Amino acid sequence: MNEQRINPSILSADFVNLEAELQAIATADYVHVDVMDNHFVPNLTMGPPIVSRIQAVSPVPLDMHLMISDADRWAPGYAEMGAFSVTFHAEAAQDPVRLARQLRDMGARAGLALKPGTDPEPYLELLPEFDQVLVMTVEPGFGGQSFMPDMMPKLRRFAEAKARLGLDVWLQVDGGITVDTIGIAAEAGADTFVAGSAVYGGVPEARIADLRVAAAAH
Ligand code: DX5
Ligand code: ZN
Repeated sequence: MNEQRINPSILSADFVNLEAELQAIATADYVHVDVMDNHFVPNLTMGPPIVSRIQAVSPVPLDMHLMISDADRWAPGYAEMGAFSVTFHAEAAQDPVRLARQLRDMGARAGLALKPGTDPEPYLELLPEFDQVLVMTVEPGFGGQSFMPDMMPKLRRFAEAKARLGLDVWLQVDGGITVDTIGIAAEAGADTFVAGSAVYGGVPEARIADLRVAAAAH
């Protein structure tokens, strides 16, 4: 079995106690940080000042998910802060390849995210330019939504391209991941699982452990 990663989303954490909420997920692989600008998505979360404080205190490396317009302008700043990975949306970048190369040059893993309505076909051949692909399994913007199983064919397309091109690009899913849905995504080729409400809706350490078991059991 390939390595599997559980990345809790702090979108579902208590924002007034962020340091404690980060410590609570120390057994996770990475912390998924959702940046929203109230333009690309109809919600607003945080930006560079808060993310740089998260970077300073987090026990696990940062997996940035930028749900913002004008990714070309803003994404490099998160790489500069020392984020482990910086994922921007295909729909929000002028030049995804150029931006991915810039992020890699800065020492971050480059990630490409696709909204549910976005066709994967134009991006399959770009896979060598990326370290990870994020297939959204809800419409981006809010935690606590239901998993969209109809995104599994898209995930399989990326898994096929990954195998065909002989790459070790990570395939990430985000949205509605629970102990009941994580196996469906794993079976379709996902290896990196974002979970917000499923982790922070209980005792995070126990929820992370449960998700690991469920992912491995598929
Ligand atoms: C939604 C965010 C997700 C969100 C997932 O747009 O990108 O990362 O936190 O939340 P759950 O796991 O509750 O669906
Ligand atoms: Zn996210």
